[in-house]
Amino acid sequence: MTATIALITGANKGIGFETARQLGAQGMTVLVGARDEERGRAAESALRESGADARFVQLDVTDAKSVQQAAEWIEAEYGRLDVLVNNAGTATIARRGAPPSQTSLDDMRAVYEINVFGVVTVTNAMLPLLRRAEAARIVNVSSEVGSIGSQSDPASPLAQLPASAQYPSSKAALDMLTAMYAKELRDTPIKVNAANPGYTATDLNGNSGFRSAAEGAEVSVHLATLDASGPTGTLWGYQWSPQGAYGTLPW
Ligand SMILES: NC(=O)c1ccc[n+]([C@@H]2O[C@H](COP(=O)([O-])OP(=O)(O)OC[C@H]3O[C@@H](n4cnc5c(N)ncnc54)[C@H](OP(=O)(O)O)[C@@H]3O)[C@@H](O)[C@H]2O)c1
Repeated sequence: MTATIALITGANKGIGFETARQLGAQGMTVLVGARDEERGRAAESALRESGADARFVQLDVTDAKSVQQAAEWIEAEYGRLDVLVNNAGTATIARRGAPPSQTSLDDMRAVYEINVFGVVTVTNAMLPLLRRAEAARIVNVSSEVGSIGSQSDPASPLAQLPASAQYPSSKAALDMLTAMYAKELRDTPIKVNAANPGYTATDLNGNSGFRSAAEGAEVSVHLATLDASGPTGTLWGYQWSPQGAYGTLPW
């Protein structure tokens, strides 16, 4: 049987690394997207030691040339792509941003380059390969902080967070991209969903999250392995509730 081929961007650490580890443990060939070769190769080695069929692929989501080269390499090696997890993201630039009234446009553009435009660059480069798979899955790693429904609901814990423009709006834009790609691809077997890992302890938040990276990654893994009856065009994942349940979230 041919292995399922999965590309995870930003897979050298955090939720992306754990997603690669869990998909690799299911027998998938995991392509470890990383912008830095040293960090990517270290992740590849660690994943191989854990038994996964992992291969590093250099990929900076803000560099269209590196993305195109990655697509050409995947085509030459495998001829198709079954799973794309658009995981690479940043919030660290945004944390300097403070409230909307004091937003730095330079910082905002830098966040959007990775969290929004990077996803379009990677998805469009990989779509020809995803269309060649039997039933490809695209997972866009978003966040509940991009949910307009939750942020504007006074009863939601998210409404208690300080207002900021850059990171939340980048994830709201990513949610709409998810809905629009799902719409474009609705007559194909390809499913496109946005993942909410929940507040997860990684470098993105100085390891302050209350969930582990492995728990956060379970959401991407679930959406990457949906069967034919699964949804498309949803925001799915951790619901910020005392029970810590998984489910569909409001856009
Ligand atoms: N942690 C949370 O609580 C949380 C909650 C909701 C959503 N998320 C989302 O989950 C995803 C993963 O974040 P994380 O928490 O695992 O953070 P992380 O540990 O900081 O990992 C971020 C990953 O993205 C990579 N990356 C950043 N810019 C890139 C670029 N231009 N090209 C390629 N890769 C790039 C980083 O690579 P380098 O090592 O080279 O910087 C790193 O591998 C992000 O999309 C984030 O927004 C996280």
